Formats: sequence, C-alpha cells, structure tokens
Amino acid sequence: MKLFLDTANITEIEQAQAMGVLDGVTTNPTLLAKEGRDPVQVVQEICEILEGPVNAEVISTDCEGMLKEARQWAKLSENIVVKIPMTREGMKAVKKLSEEEIPTNVTLVFSPSQALIAAKAGAAYVSPFVGRLDDRSEDGMQLAAQIIQIFNNYGFGTEVLVASVRHPMHVVEAALMGADIATMPYAVFEKLFEHPLTDLGLQQFLADWGKLKR
Ligand code: E4P
Repeated sequence: MKLFLDTANITEIEQAQAMGVLDGVTTNPTLLAKEGRDPVQVVQEICEILEGPVNAEVISTDCEGMLKEARQWAKLSENIVVKIPMTREGMKAVKKLSEEEIPTNVTLVFSPSQALIAAKAGAAYVSPFVGRLDDRSEDGMQLAAQIIQIFNNYGFGTEVLVASVRHPMHVVEAALMGADIATMPYAVFEKLFEHPLTDLGLQQFLADWGKLKR
C-alpha cells in the first residue's frame, strides 16, 4: 500500500521524504490556506521534492471552471493529480479530463454509489473520507471496504485512496483490506514508526552491550 502525506507543509514533506517511504502528497484548500503562502508556489515546491503524485484541488463548482483550473494545475508538473469534488459538475469535468489524460482524484466521497460513479467517469483515484464518517458515528472503514469490493468486482482501474485518516489503525485496516493508498497527517505518519517495546528493547540492548568488557 502506498503512503501519502496529507499536508501542504514543506518541512513535514521533506522530513517524511527523508525516511524513504513517502509515495505521494494530498493537499486541499484548507491545508494550503494553513500555510499562508501562494498556493501555486507551495504546490510547485512540493512537486520539486517528490517524484510521486501531488494532489491539488480545484475550487470552482462548475465544470468549465474546474476544467480551466485543472489544466492550469496540470501544467505545473507531471506529478500533478487534480482533486475534483464529488458533484454532478465534477463528474462531467472528470470525464473530460480523463479523455485529456489529466489524472483526477474524486474527493469528498462518502458513499459507495459516489465511488462507483467516480470510477465510471474515469477517475484515477477516489478518496473516501473515513475519519469524517467516524466523526458522525458512521463506519468510515466499512465504506472503504465496500468501494474496494465494488472495484474488484468489475475490474475498475481506479485506485482507492483512504483519506481523512485519524490514527494508525485506519492505516493498518486500509492495508489489511487492500486499499491502494492511505493519506495521513504527519502526526499519524510519525506514529507508524513507533512502539514502546522497540524503544525499551533498544535501550536494553545498548545497556547490555555497554556492560561488556572489551
Ligand atoms: C485528503 O485528500 C483529504 O482532503 C483529507 O484527508 C481530509 O482530511 P480531514 O477530514 O482530516 O480534513
């Protein structure tokens, strides 16, 4: 399973990249706004750091506007994947962009039927927002599992990108169910490395080695 960082923060991306296991980045308007800098400049910098997919989202709500923005994003770098919201206008744009070979990630997916429509429209990726469903006492990972099953049933090439990840168990469950990608905040990415028994074990090994008379 590919691991993406869900951030527009350059320092976090550089740190994760240095660990050697970062496959891509997802941004959204909220994450870019947090950085307080020119969003195009930020996305360009991310594309220079990473070889993998870098997701940048449109903010238009009509198909023509989305197409215009998507083409502008796509000119920035070959890594760009354009995030398009799961709306009727959005799906028209996805269809057109897939004909133009501009990869799209259909975002704000909260039901299996939305994912099916997105795949049929030609999306390269769909993003079920698992954490936001959990926040409403719904089962986000169940949605991810249903989408994976539907795509497998019909051999859709659309990748399932588990988004709105809140903790490492979302990542583990995504991997167990065969999701293609999980995107997560830097804090969750960091937690994937950790276990107190690893720290204790290492401490013990070093202490024992230190007792050796050499
Ligand atoms: C990623 O593509 C999404 O924009 C992101 O995962 C949303 O996460 P949130 O629900 O934590 O805002």
